[in-house]
Amino acid sequence: MKTNRLSQTLTDALNAQMTKEAHASQIYLSYGAWASSKGFGGVANFLFRHAQEERNHMMKVLEYILRRGGEVVVIAIPAPPDHPATLYECFESVFTHEVGNTKSIHSLVKMSFQEEDWATWNFLQWFVKEQVEEETFAMNLLDKFRIAGGTKVSGETLYELDKDLGKTNGEAISAQKVTAEKP
Ligand code: FEO
Repeated sequence: MKTNRLSQTLTDALNAQMTKEAHASQIYLSYGAWASSKGFGGVANFLFRHAQEERNHMMKVLEYILRRGGEVVVIAIPAPPDHPATLYECFESVFTHEVGNTKSIHSLVKMSFQEEDWATWNFLQWFVKEQVEEETFAMNLLDKFRIAGGTKVSGETLYELDKDLGKTNGEAISAQKVTAEKP
């Protein structure tokens, strides 16, 4: 008896989303290593924690596909982009990436709605909320930079921002209870 409760279209799209979350994790990992090599330990710490959060998102999608009887297909993760030139560019890129991910989640929501797959629609609402929080967080970071002088930010201010971020939890509220073991 066929037990797969997901359409092939949604299974493929969810598998693609899983890879996108893994890709996001690699981007944060790569940016974190770059920030650390530039002496921004606080930023690096924040980005490394976020890399883990993205991995948890990946696990959440993977678990869902399995739970609905779908087939999980793990493929190669694309390489992260080149290192940013500045911290400002780093956070601009983080924001752009999150906006792209929001679009991808929204297109999944639309697909599930069109298919009247309400379980998947419901599952995706967690991600819709999460993306609002992640975008807000990235926007706030950029605002901090703009207030501090944008690309002309002083070394002293960068030092303070780095210290600040080292202390920031950084995780969206909805992601705080999610772990790789318990997606
Ligand atoms: Fe998994 Fe940053 O979205």
